[in-house]
Amino acid sequence: MDSFFITTPIYYVNAKPHLGHAYTTILADSMNRFHKLLGDETFFLTGTDEHGDKIVQAAEKGGQTPREYVDEISSLFSDLWPGLQIENDDFIRTTEERHIKCVQEVLQKVYDKGDIYFGEYGGHYCFGCERFYTEKELTDGKCPQHETVPEYIAEKNYFFKMSKYQDWLIGHINANPDFIRPERYRNEVLSLLKSGALEDLCISRPKSRLEWGIELPFDRDFVTYVWFDALINYITALEYPDGEKFKKYWPAANHLVAKDILKPHAVFWPTMLKAAEIEPYQNLNVHGYWLIKDTKMSKSLGNVVSPLEMADKYGVNAFRYFLLREMVFGNDSSFSEEALVGRLNADLANDLGNLYSRTLSMTHKYFGGIVPAPGEEGEEDCDIKNVGRKAMADFQNNFMEAKFSRGLEGLWELVRGLNKYIDTTQPWALYKEEKMSRLGTVMYVLLENMRKIAVHLWPVMPEASESMFEQLGIKFSPEKINLQGEIDVWGLLEHGTAVASKSNLFPRVEVEKKDTAPKKKEAKPSKKKSKEKKTEIPGVIEFPDFQKVDMRVGTILSVVKHPDADKLLLIKVDTGEDEPRQVVAGLAEFFKPEELEGRQVVVVVNLAPRKLRGEVSQGMILAVRNGKEMQLLTATAPVDNGCKVS
Ligand code: ME8
Ligand code: MG
Repeated sequence: MDSFFITTPIYYVNAKPHLGHAYTTILADSMNRFHKLLGDETFFLTGTDEHGDKIVQAAEKGGQTPREYVDEISSLFSDLWPGLQIENDDFIRTTEERHIKCVQEVLQKVYDKGDIYFGEYGGHYCFGCERFYTEKELTDGKCPQHETVPEYIAEKNYFFKMSKYQDWLIGHINANPDFIRPERYRNEVLSLLKSGALEDLCISRPKSRLEWGIELPFDRDFVTYVWFDALINYITALEYPDGEKFKKYWPAANHLVAKDILKPHAVFWPTMLKAAEIEPYQNLNVHGYWLIKDTKMSKSLGNVVSPLEMADKYGVNAFRYFLLREMVFGNDSSFSEEALVGRLNADLANDLGNLYSRTLSMTHKYFGGIVPAPGEEGEEDCDIKNVGRKAMADFQNNFMEAKFSRGLEGLWELVRGLNKYIDTTQPWALYKEEKMSRLGTVMYVLLENMRKIAVHLWPVMPEASESMFEQLGIKFSPEKINLQGEIDVWGLLEHGTAVASKSNLFPRVEVEKKDTAPKKKEAKPSKKKSKEKKTEIPGVIEFPDFQKVDMRVGTILSVVKHPDADKLLLIKVDTGEDEPRQVVAGLAEFFKPEELEGRQVVVVVNLAPRKLRGEVSQGMILAVRNGKEMQLLTATAPVDNGCKVS
């Protein structure tokens, strides 16, 4: 059994969690679940970073002590995660005793080895970044990140001999192509390391200036620099040096960070580990920024998106899917609700949701809701099974390499392929022709593949995936899954299993146009005038007139030809009422009865009943004629019968 250890950055508690933090943590959760399905023993760590100037300043601003302040904000993070279906194994806080002990232990070890020395240092200190800048690094004398003039500080401090490990680090990165990924960040680090001599790292702050930190074990007048403190969290949680967890999960560590903290993770951390004689971590996975209209979303810019608000509005699972699908790992990506709704409607409601609801309702119609035994397989079954094998392998290989967006794209080849398979195999025609053995094979191919899709989606959308299993009549437990085996195994869904009759996994969402409100206001003064005018125009109706027409969605149950009229069909529609309605429609020229059965249509239900050639018609089915063709109006994804059109 392999071990897999996944971490997020420990977030600063100087502000509330936002979408950026949620993204990294959701991604870590997905990677963790993915490795669970691979059968690995996993450990997932997140937490908060609670020392340093920034925290003291934030606490003072709110009139709190640092302790009160960090307790409050830290719990905003730990309380947020369950609501996003994030299941971390541990939550570490750098103010905890276990961490203080561990940091001091590492410091003492490196100090005893001679890799920490006391020296004088002068530099331009940016409080926002909590670091010194060299003259060269400043732009027009200002911090490039905060655009503020840093303070020149000269003081005696302790230094870590980072420079000593420069060559070793270059060698290690060269020998391990996966150490930092994607490649652009690996190249960035290599060019930084090769561009000149690495400086030693100042790892202390005099207590006279800052008290809120971990005391150096060898000099009580100093506290530890936040980064030297924070990075060690990753091994504190494993109970370094003697804990069982440390033996099990180190060095199988996968760190996940955004590019803002590339240097501490790619340079400070491995050299610190080397000095402490600890093996380097396995992978550093670096992602880009979520942008809001081309600027980085950040608390200091005040353009943050609340993850809970998005999850409440669109569903946690759709939100998680969007984040993983939309951002190409490593690149920046823009966040907008329009883009989220676009993906939700296209990929989830249309492709995936439709597949589930169509197949389940057909299983009910043709096999009483029971998974049929498959008969002999034909060419198109083999073809779709091949599509499936390729899609699952794509998903798994890409997830393994932290290419999440591509992985999901790969899996959707199967989702879309199955929808096409329904269109080409035409189960309704097989049913009509009573080819039940063939129909059984088709339905089985669909249902078994849907199970496979549900398995693969568990890391990304845990709850939705569990609902999919439930709808397929299966009790889901991650320990029973053999993810790699799923690519080739066939037939795990047992025939005879009862499936759900309905599935409404991802209801479609209409996006509200944000700029309509002010426009409405502007239009207000002229409203009265235009109203008076409008009623005078012949053919123009008022909104209440339109509202009088009651239109509902219904599913066509059966269709027969009108006994006395060639052009008419007698159509029974389930419009969600106690009894189906009969509609007499002039559709016989355009459709064969079997082409209409099972389709959802829009019916005007409050039309006064009338007789057409002796048959009562209780409503009207909406259709559009285009030359010789007729198209029926319908919602773009299945909805419940009886839903009102408005
Ligand atoms: O840096 N897009 O904490 P932090 C994507 N305490 N991800 C974003 C993001 C955005 N716009 N904004 C933030 C720290 N993140 C240190 C870490 S680790 C030993 C110490 C995410 O609160 C992303 O993961 O500033 C980024 O790396 C992290 O939040 C920075 O969090
Ligand atoms: Mg930051």
